[in-house]
Amino acid sequence: MKFGAAFTLFSSFVSTALAVSFIVPGAVWSDTSGAKIQAHGGHVIKVGSTFYWLGYSTTAGVRPNIYTSTDLMNWTHFGIASTAVSAMYRPKFVSSGGKWYIWGQVNREIVTLVAPGSSPLSTAYTLTGSPQLLPPDARSFSDMGVFVADNGAYRYPHTREPYPNYYRQDQATSSPVPTLTTFKSTTSMLGTQSRLAVESQILASGSLEGPGMFKSSGGVYYLIMSQKTGYRSNPNKVYWAPSLAGPWSGGTDIAPESANTYNSQNSAELVIKGTSTTSYIFLGDAWDSTGSDASNYEWLPITVSDSAHTLTLQNLSMWTVNPNTGVVSSSGFSNITIKAADGIVSGSAVVKKRAVHNINSSSNVTFNNIIGKGDKQWVSFEYAVNNVTAGEAHVVVNGGAPVNLSQLNSRAGHYSTVPVALELQKGVNTLTFGATGHDFEAHLEGIQVFDDY
Ligand SMILES: *[C@@H]1O[C@H](CO)[C@@H](O)[C@H](O)[C@H]1NC(C)=O
Ligand SMILES: *[C@@H]1O[C@H](CO)[C@@H](O)[C@H](O)[C@H]1NC(C)=O
Ligand SMILES: *[C@@H]1O[C@H](CO)[C@@H](O)[C@H](O)[C@H]1NC(C)=O
Ligand SMILES: *[C@@H]1O[C@H](CO)[C@@H](O)[C@H](O)[C@H]1NC(C)=O
Ligand SMILES: *[C@@H]1O[C@H](CO)[C@@H](O)[C@H](O)[C@H]1NC(C)=O
Ligand SMILES: *[C@@H]1O[C@H](CO)[C@@H](O)[C@H](O)[C@H]1NC(C)=O
Ligand SMILES: *[C@@H]1O[C@H](CO)[C@@H](O)[C@H](O)[C@H]1NC(C)=O
Repeated sequence: MKFGAAFTLFSSFVSTALAVSFIVPGAVWSDTSGAKIQAHGGHVIKVGSTFYWLGYSTTAGVRPNIYTSTDLMNWTHFGIASTAVSAMYRPKFVSSGGKWYIWGQVNREIVTLVAPGSSPLSTAYTLTGSPQLLPPDARSFSDMGVFVADNGAYRYPHTREPYPNYYRQDQATSSPVPTLTTFKSTTSMLGTQSRLAVESQILASGSLEGPGMFKSSGGVYYLIMSQKTGYRSNPNKVYWAPSLAGPWSGGTDIAPESANTYNSQNSAELVIKGTSTTSYIFLGDAWDSTGSDASNYEWLPITVSDSAHTLTLQNLSMWTVNPNTGVVSSSGFSNITIKAADGIVSGSAVVKKRAVHNINSSSNVTFNNIIGKGDKQWVSFEYAVNNVTAGEAHVVVNGGAPVNLSQLNSRAGHYSTVPVALELQKGVNTLTFGATGHDFEAHLEGIQVFDDY
């Protein structure tokens, strides 16, 4: 037992309400009412000083769902944007001619919703136009992304050889409806649509989906896409171009290959142009194995190198971004990292280096003297299991009932570091990490206890 002094770190902490103080990638995020946030496959836009997060809610018929925030942490549920559609995936906001639209995919066609007034905040979006297939030959598509450029809004689906990756929809149109028309440069009441030459180049790079695009302050266009492995994560790639018309190059990883994009899939990017700096944020989905409501979000700041034309996700456990200055910070909280071998090992488990291996139903690891603040706080468990379907790792807080980690975070067992919010009592707490299952065992590297939520 090597802890002691360090644990008094929390003792001066003054308990606060359920205010969210940090972005904690991969954790279960709650809105200001305490409900789990349901906004998958979406994006975040900023209008005035407010961020609008639009994604789909699996608990509400896969309908577009809107949240608002001024700090990207504290999200207030606005509501389901429309009951006129269901099974609408990857919804995105677009504005044109003073109106707000939602583009989303229904039955692998693009469907357009329009808000009744002049605000994107509405629960009464209605259908407009007809569902659209992918030109030129009316093929279906999936995984739509949206990029708003000076000359119009671009929508781009997954790659589909030999068809193009994205199309331009001019906003300079007399029609208020930003609707994809045909593949050919056809002028219709809906505007001019043109294919960009670059697209076959991107397609040549492989089978990609989950597209998100942004332009850096240095004027470079970046397109992040995942590979196609269903709800299982893979190393997402970035392509770059000096202009939207290309030429596009790249295909480099945005995170260490083995991390599989920190177990997430790209959905969109958010650029925050602050008074001090411009920050770029990766908005990923941390899917569970079926894309259900248990799926979480992995948001991480991106380090952009316009000279190397690379993007690198910053692997941060807890961070914030100042919406005014644009400055990203990963300070302002304390954590204690405890190696598993510094816990009390009970039963047949084996200490190797400073990790504990072979934790099964006849063994566990107990951490005493965890100082809590009488409120929720984040605790990360770093562990791996021999077989995800054979059993579960669990945590026992202060001798209570074991709680499977998967009940607290669907990533449990699937990813090396699983942050969960635990209600710790004020003062000293005891946490026990254990395992249940036939032929199931876990190997625990350690835990990190954060003094905040
Ligand atoms: C969160 O946002 C709500 C609504 O805007 C506000 O009332 C509340 O004070 C905010 N809480 C924090 C901790 O910022
Ligand atoms: C990312 O950070 C987590 C938590 O600190 C750590 O467990 C993991 O090894 C890191 N991953 C990589 C690829 O550096
Ligand atoms: C935890 O704290 C240590 C030392 O204070 C620091 O080096 C480390 O980066 C922190 N870990 C995380 C995940 O923030
Ligand atoms: C736990 O693992 C030990 C060896 O590490 C083994 O002897 C024991 O049978 C296992 N217990 C169960 C319940 O599987
Ligand atoms: C830890 O394991 C030991 C040995 O199997 C057992 O007696 C004890 O009840 C376990 N403790 C918890 C909290 O599960
Ligand atoms: C993993 O566990 C499941 C459920 O017990 C079992 O069916 C499967 O064979 C196991 N896989 C391996 C590789 O042992
Ligand atoms: C926890 O996981 C174990 C092993 O998979 C399972 O038998 C048990 O039913 C789970 N408990 C709950 C409450 O889901």
